[in-house]
Amino acid sequence: LTLGIDSSTQSTKALLVDADSGEVVETRTAPHPPGTEVDPRAWLAAVDDATAGLLERADAVAVGGQQHGMVALDEGGTPVRDALLWNDTRSARAALELIEEMGGPQACADAIGSVLVASFTSAKLRWLRDHEPDHAARVARVLLPHDYVSHHLAADGTEPFTDRGDASGTGYFATAAGEWRPDLLEQALGHRAALPRIVAPGAVAGETGDGRTIAGGTGDNMGAALGMALEPGDVLVSVGTSGVASAISSVPVADGTGTVTGFADASGGFLPMVTTMNAAGILDLQARWLGVDHDGLAELALQSAPGAGGVTLLPYYGGERTPNRPDAVGTWTGLTPATTRADLARAAYESLLCSLADAVDRLVAATGETPKRVLMVGGATKSAALRELAPAVLGCPVLLPPPGEYVALGAARQAAWALAGTTEPPAWAAAETTVLEADPTPHVREAYAGLRDRTAPWHD
Ligand code: XUL
Repeated sequence: LTLGIDSSTQSTKALLVDADSGEVVETRTAPHPPGTEVDPRAWLAAVDDATAGLLERADAVAVGGQQHGMVALDEGGTPVRDALLWNDTRSARAALELIEEMGGPQACADAIGSVLVASFTSAKLRWLRDHEPDHAARVARVLLPHDYVSHHLAADGTEPFTDRGDASGTGYFATAAGEWRPDLLEQALGHRAALPRIVAPGAVAGETGDGRTIAGGTGDNMGAALGMALEPGDVLVSVGTSGVASAISSVPVADGTGTVTGFADASGGFLPMVTTMNAAGILDLQARWLGVDHDGLAELALQSAPGAGGVTLLPYYGGERTPNRPDAVGTWTGLTPATTRADLARAAYESLLCSLADAVDRLVAATGETPKRVLMVGGATKSAALRELAPAVLGCPVLLPPPGEYVALGAARQAAWALAGTTEPPAWAAAETTVLEADPTPHVREAYAGLRDRTAPWHD
């Protein structure tokens, strides 16, 4: 048995999994405190709680965790302050300053694989240096959330460790080369601090206090890719509060426009990622405005025709980052006296899918790799309208994996990999996916190609 842990923003999830088959034997959860700054010791209490009774049954364990968070420790290993999480935006200005100091966005992307944003650890360290110099002065070591939890599970005296996937979200890791850039950490914080060692994919990081194997762990997005057994050429589209498209790629990217974040993955490749800010919320708003629930919205949308009777929505209600329009607002065009409620419902789905298709296109442009498979996850994939329109707008079949705790499952798979000592991760049976095929009629395809053209002028 192996134990996979997902230390996420909201909670700790622990999955006890059969190491040979990948079958989930038992699942436990413990909540985390809310907020964007949290005492990281609360995650240790949650992991103790969620793994009690499970850890002793496992031969190996690994931790997946929320990316980017700053866990700043003093000489004695005590947090100097609460951790600042990925979704804490106070470090936005610090990110811009660091980009400038590094020689601009392209130079930044060339150095670390991504253009810094507020989420990255280095931006948080710079904020600390400028706003809490007393705390900054006491920082002797910096860890990511998953490193901190792994270290807690590891035997006393184990040197802290991480993996290249989560390290690629710090801002002081040369992602293409797979090496720390301690000079960039020093530049952000103002002085040198210790960094965790990087554990190779599939390698053993150490042992727990009672002699179980512990693997390097990884960031949650990398963990989910491993849990879904994604392979090079796969693109995963996730429709949540934000929309995310990520690709399993064999080549690193360095996108100076900042659209594509060039992470590393947990299996030795790369995980370039594009994020949109308006996704499931587009449908929530539309349902509210039309006075229907989500089933009602889907039903209405399916009564309209491809192209929504000429109605086009640019759904950038909360500003947008893909395209990079932080001050954008939503824009409706093509409304006529003939426009129906069904057209309005359909335009909402079509706009969401066009924006996800844009995200996929940008990934393809950055990696030069045409997707072999497109998978889609997220609550919105339950919608009958999304299921019908997704392959039509994206122009390819769309695979829906069943709902699951893929981050924790990926961690469990990594632990099983370390236990087996093989070059490849264990070949667990891939989850049964539902295949959505596109409508083969040419006029439907033309309608959606036309729709993408209608929205294109707003992009660049
Ligand atoms: C990725 C990111 C989030 C967190 C969520 O850049 O910030 O997906 O990893 O936990």
